[in-house]
Parts: sequence; C-alpha cells; structure tokens
Amino acid sequence: MSNMADMTYNIMKVLRDRAPANVSGEELSRMLGVSRTAVWKHMKQLTAMGYLINAASRNGYSFVSAPEEINGFEIAYNLDAEIIGRNVEYLEAVDSTNEHAKRLAAEGAEDGTVIVSGTQTAGRGRLGRTWESAEGKGIYLSILLKPDVPPRNMQLITVAAAAAAISAIEKTTGLSALVKWPNDIVADGKKLCGILTEMNTELDRVNYMIIGAGINFSQELTDVPEELKDKAISVNPAMYARNAVFNDSIRLELVRSFLIEMDRNYIAVLEGRNGEILDCLRKRSATIGREVRIISRGIEFTGTAVDVTEDAGLVVRLGDGTLKEINSGEVSVRGLLGYC
Ligand code: BTN
Repeated sequence: MSNMADMTYNIMKVLRDRAPANVSGEELSRMLGVSRTAVWKHMKQLTAMGYLINAASRNGYSFVSAPEEINGFEIAYNLDAEIIGRNVEYLEAVDSTNEHAKRLAAEGAEDGTVIVSGTQTAGRGRLGRTWESAEGKGIYLSILLKPDVPPRNMQLITVAAAAAAISAIEKTTGLSALVKWPNDIVADGKKLCGILTEMNTELDRVNYMIIGAGINFSQELTDVPEELKDKAISVNPAMYARNAVFNDSIRLELVRSFLIEMDRNYIAVLEGRNGEILDCLRKRSATIGREVRIISRGIEFTGTAVDVTEDAGLVVRLGDGTLKEINSGEVSVRGLLGYC
C-alpha cells in the first residue's frame, strides 16, 4: 500500500520532488523521523523495486529514474486528486480487485483506496458473469468509496465512473467512446470497458461502495473468445492509428487519468453537482434516443430511451406513450453488442 504511512514511498517522494538535487541521509532522517540506518534500508527497498537512486556517501542521495513497470507508488505519485488514490495498492495478481477492496473495507480502509492488479484469477462481471482478466491485456482496478450520500445516489456514482472512464480513455488514447446506460463503455458499437458496482448499505446510509472497472487495453482479436469477437474492442486500434507503442507507461497514464477524472466526478456528486455528471451522460450516451429492450425483475419490455432522471435512472417511453423509469436490470440497445 502506498500512502502517507508508507515510509519507502515518502522517501521516494522527497527525493523525486527535489531531483536532480541531492538530499542527505541526515536530512531525510530528520525530516521523516527515522534513523539513518532505516533510511538506508528504504533506499535498498526502492532499488529492489527498480528505482535508480544515486547514493554518494558524502553527498546523500538523488533520484535518477523510476521503474518501467507499474507499481502503487507510480500510480500515487503526485496524483492530481483529493480523495481517490490517497492509498494505492498494486498487486501482480489477485482473485478479483472488487473482492480485495471488500477485504480492505472490512479492515477499515479509507475512502478513495485504490486497488490495481496485473491479472485476476476470478474477475467478475455484472449479472454473475466472469470477466476475462489476462495478464497485461487489460486494466483491472477497484476504488473503495465511503460516500456520505443516501443509497439512491449510488447509481449516480456508477454513472460518474463511466463518465470518468470515457474522459480518461479519450485523453490518453484519443479514442472517443460512449456510455451504454448505466455502466458499459462502448466504442465502434463494441464493449471497451465494463464497470461493476457493489455496495454495502443500510436502510438509509451507505457503508461503502466499490467501483470495479475493467478496461480492454491491448487485447488483439486473437485474445478474444469466439463469442465475443464482434462484441468487444480494446484501445489497441486507436493506439495503432496514432503509431503509439503499447507499454506500461500508457497503461499507467490511463490508470492515473481515470483516477483523476473519477476524483473530480466523485467530488461533484458529494457536493450535489449532479448536473455535471448527467450532462456528460446525456452528451455521450449510446442509449438515449435508441430503441431498448429491458429485462428487469424477470419482466421483459421494449421502448425508446428518452432521458435520464436526477438520480441517473433511465427514462423509457413505452409503446403506449407512457414513461417508465428504470433503475436496475439488463438494458440492451438495438444495434449494439449483438442485439438487433
Ligand atoms: C461488466 O461489464 O460486466 C463489468 C465488468 C467489471 C470488471 C472489473 S475488472 C476489475 C473489477 N474486479 C472484478 O472482479 N470486476 C471488476
């Protein structure tokens, strides 16, 4: 976990903020309240993590470079966010980042804790589906939130995450995407990112919620199971079009960008600025104005999606002209993801 309690992170931060200047072991030990031997041990730890630190016994230490591989420090370092990313845990592998977030929540982890994993052995999608989580092919992350809002605002936070994913993907890769209400991100009519929101609530309060996002990153068609070939897309084609090379630095940039955008949107919801999120949802909707088929609580019906409510519910006009608000269930959009 990289947070303010993590001394190795703090030492890296001081050195990096001051680079290329040298910082003496004595100053570090005074500043951070640890012994010089401890400072030295943390330097060894940083070196083992792939950081290059120049150590000249008389002149102290100076930061040279960060590792190429993603780690929690690289995600957290100077992240332009207030709440999200104060704690970041990066794992090489985990069952599911959402499950891990639940475990951390049970241990009292704070609002905005982020878990990112290189792969998942039991990645989960919505409606009990599995989420393919091949190593290095996708981005798998969860954010633990403890919002002081009533449970009916949860939908808005899910939609806020979808809006954040769209902005981050567009800023990082140039790929323009849309939201299939409430939480699928599509590009070129295919699924690019899925969001699984889980929560722990009481009657009128939210104990915590977990936003799990899976972004298809560098999958090629050969990586995609046959039945999903015409339904899934990754950011890969957009990157090829820009002649960009796939590497961990783009993956890192996309993760950081998503956290920054989500932080802004989360704060907007906490401050009651719901309109900002809803405007984005309306502008970038792959659902509004389209024919939809809804399966909700075992009942199937069709209609036209016309708008979203203040709480981010979907407003559907039925065949007889009546309007119905949808807050849960499975929504298929005609012409998208295999529904024709
Ligand atoms: C869906 O579209 O069905 C939602 C997919 C959500 C996948 C992400 S990957 C990170 C997080 N951990 C999980 O087990 N699932 C979510």
